[in-house]
Amino acid sequence: MSDRVMWFNGRCVPWEDARVHVWDELALRGANVFEGITAFWNARELRHEVLAGDAHLDRLFHSAQVADIPAPMTKREVFGALCEVAAQLPGTDIYLRPTFYAKKGRSALAPDSEGAMYIGGFPFRPTRPPAVRAVVSEHSRYGGPIGADAKSGGSYLDFRVFERERIEHGVEHVFFLNDRGHVAEADGAAILLVRDGLVITPSVDSGVLDSITKRIVLAIALDLGHRVEERPVQRDELYQAQVVLAGTLLGLRTVDEVDGQRAGDRAGADTAAALIYEYNQLCRAESPLAGAHLAPLQ
Ligand SMILES: Cc1ncc(COP(=O)(O)O)c(C=O)c1O
Repeated sequence: MSDRVMWFNGRCVPWEDARVHVWDELALRGANVFEGITAFWNARELRHEVLAGDAHLDRLFHSAQVADIPAPMTKREVFGALCEVAAQLPGTDIYLRPTFYAKKGRSALAPDSEGAMYIGGFPFRPTRPPAVRAVVSEHSRYGGPIGADAKSGGSYLDFRVFERERIEHGVEHVFFLNDRGHVAEADGAAILLVRDGLVITPSVDSGVLDSITKRIVLAIALDLGHRVEERPVQRDELYQAQVVLAGTLLGLRTVDEVDGQRAGDRAGADTAAALIYEYNQLCRAESPLAGAHLAPLQ
């Protein structure tokens, strides 16, 4: 059995058979919106349990509305399709990427408008490189009519520029600022600054995707009795705290160095380690908070 599964046009197909035309709006204008979703294998129940499935589907439909991509299915139907993909990958944690795209029509209101969906799925094993270094990009990222709070393929073209910078600097991550010079987010992850008993993160008006992983971590932080501050974050603050990245594909990852500077202290690192431990327990259904975030994918 292949470890990559593709759901396309209503059924699972061989990976190579998911083809679109170069003149589809998907290719012409990058007209697609997507989600990255994780589901963890529960070996006791012999089933996948999806993390924050409702929040991801809500965001997929929100992105579709913002980017004016016609939603080809209902939430219940998308959930059913995710279950079909998960059923092909038993016994392992998985990453699922449902995508709505426009085949035809320059707007969902166009008479010839036609939407479609695919889902890619594959096993998921988050790893941590031996050293995690980041640089702050020389570019800022800010939205036009499609803001940072929608996951749209077209607006993610920006990440090619950040990826190029990342490679040129030889680091693991690039952080970027918003148009006001405040810290926004990282390539594929939210930024959290952890100090002793305090978790700080850029507020949603900082031009960031409202990360679902970050929301879970903030709930854990409050549950552990820490304080949480969501507010504009100055660049200098990156050098004074334990930086933690939060994203669905990445999980939680501590950062060792930003712009060549080591930052944070023992207390911040301990608080970060406790958050990461609790988050991983939650994903394994080993936490009292799990019930609020995990649901069977079947
Ligand atoms: C730009 C950006 N920010 C943050 C995140 C993290 O968001 P989430 O935790 O919802 O996956 C992602 C991940 O997809 C992302 O692409």
